[in-house]
Amino acid sequence: MQATSKTDEDLREDFLAGMRYVANSVTVVTTDGSAGISGATVSAFSSVSADPPMVLVCLNADSSTLTMVKENKDFCVNVLPEGAKHIAERFAGFHDNELSDRFEGIDLTTSNGPSPVISGATAFICELAETLVSGSHVICIGRVLETHAGNFTPLIYMDRKFKRISDVEG
Ligand SMILES: Cc1cc2nc3c(=O)[nH]c(=O)nc-3n(C[C@H](O)[C@H](O)[C@H](O)COP(=O)(O)O)c2cc1C
Repeated sequence: MQATSKTDEDLREDFLAGMRYVANSVTVVTTDGSAGISGATVSAFSSVSADPPMVLVCLNADSSTLTMVKENKDFCVNVLPEGAKHIAERFAGFHDNELSDRFEGIDLTTSNGPSPVISGATAFICELAETLVSGSHVICIGRVLETHAGNFTPLIYMDRKFKRISDVEG
């Protein structure tokens, strides 16, 4: 196939148009420690390895949660249940103007790690193993120290909307 001479802006627009049709679970990445507490909604989450258990999240270089994850050297990936759209919006900063603390009123559960675990979420509690700068984002790779499996259907983000999963018949 002949390569077309697209501008960087064209490539960006094509990429974003394609990514609209990629469905992801919605997570909240939390961290706590000497740098302080923080949390951000993140859809760029993936399993990396089972031996040992490792995951990755991609955080924008501007993210204040990233700054704290790097300093605290710990984070928790909270995969939200389908009923938790309000939590996803909260940690995406939708209410930052009227609410100074994103954690206010959020029910947390106990764990052996410092990072907050959101009640009802499937949680992967990690120590930060490695960071890698890639374009506008930083890939944070975590070694999983504890997993809390939630028995629920996760909230999905696709086509710039929150969605539910349903079974395919047959
Ligand atoms: C559905 C959804 C998915 C998001 N996924 C990511 C992501 O993967 N990485 C990221 O850096 N920001 C993502 N964001 C944006 C952050 O949640 C948002 O910029 C947040 O305010 C960052 O907070 P912080 O600067 O306190 O870390 C997403 C937002 C939404 C609504």
